[in-house]
Amino acid sequence: MITKIMKGFKIANQIKKKIRNKIKVKKKYKYRSPGLAVVLIGNNPASLIYIKTKINACYSVGFFSAYWHLSENTTEKILLNLIQKLNENKNIDGILIQLPLPKGINKINILNSIHPSKDVDGFHPYNSGLLYQGSPILRACTPRGIITLLNHYNINLTGLNVIIIGNSSIVGKPLYLELLMTNCTVTMTNTFTKNLKNHVKMADLIIIAVGKPNFLHGDWVKSGAIVIDVGINYIKKNHSVIGDVHFESVSKKTSYITPVPGGVGPMTVASLLQNTLEIYEKLYPDLHLKDKI
Ligand code: GUN
Repeated sequence: MITKIMKGFKIANQIKKKIRNKIKVKKKYKYRSPGLAVVLIGNNPASLIYIKTKINACYSVGFFSAYWHLSENTTEKILLNLIQKLNENKNIDGILIQLPLPKGINKINILNSIHPSKDVDGFHPYNSGLLYQGSPILRACTPRGIITLLNHYNINLTGLNVIIIGNSSIVGKPLYLELLMTNCTVTMTNTFTKNLKNHVKMADLIIIAVGKPNFLHGDWVKSGAIVIDVGINYIKKNHSVIGDVHFESVSKKTSYITPVPGGVGPMTVASLLQNTLEIYEKLYPDLHLKDKI
């Protein structure tokens, strides 16, 4: 089977271009730039790379980005104080606290302290609650990016058997709820799932986010399936990045597949920009009208 490669990088660039054009209009009318606050605690190597990409993307579309890089020993109280200040800051539209957090900081306390209207990640209980109700406002970035990618390729999800491998709060759980809205049948699994291979074999769409290089092999995959690889695994030996999918064997079976790098990663960043812009546009609802004058 000849597979189609889903070009996340290209689609993300199209989204960025549209955002950049909107921001040009804003500049014409002397509006302030949308502002994203990015906070990293500690030196997790993967987080350092993600943060850099997110900040660069902000500047590439004309957003303002403020970056706090705090030490591993930062206390929960200091972080809560910073978030409080960012909640009150009129130049900041979105607040992103990069996960994972160091031990000793309670993730739930931190995520719940971000004002729901500035919650670009959609992780606050208000926003995840709206998603649970089927009417999300701010949506988690990676799931949103995956849905945008599937829509771009006109993949109709209604009735499909979909498997998610990896039940994290960042990807798996919000993605599960996103997919329920499309009337597909979703099976949530993880690397401990008994007979995982049998579950995978039945799936029309496989979405994997487990952080294990080459975890999914071609002999698990039904012919014609669609495979979305969320994994970003840094391989020290040859300084490369590979996904959770063994691309060579899996791509022989699929109808569509995402590459790593250049698949889901850029879509996550594009969704972050979309979320930030949508928060900003709520504050200036007349801005898009001016564009048409
Ligand atoms: N760490 C890995 N992915 C994400 C994400 O989408 N948002 C945040 N805040 N942290 C992450």
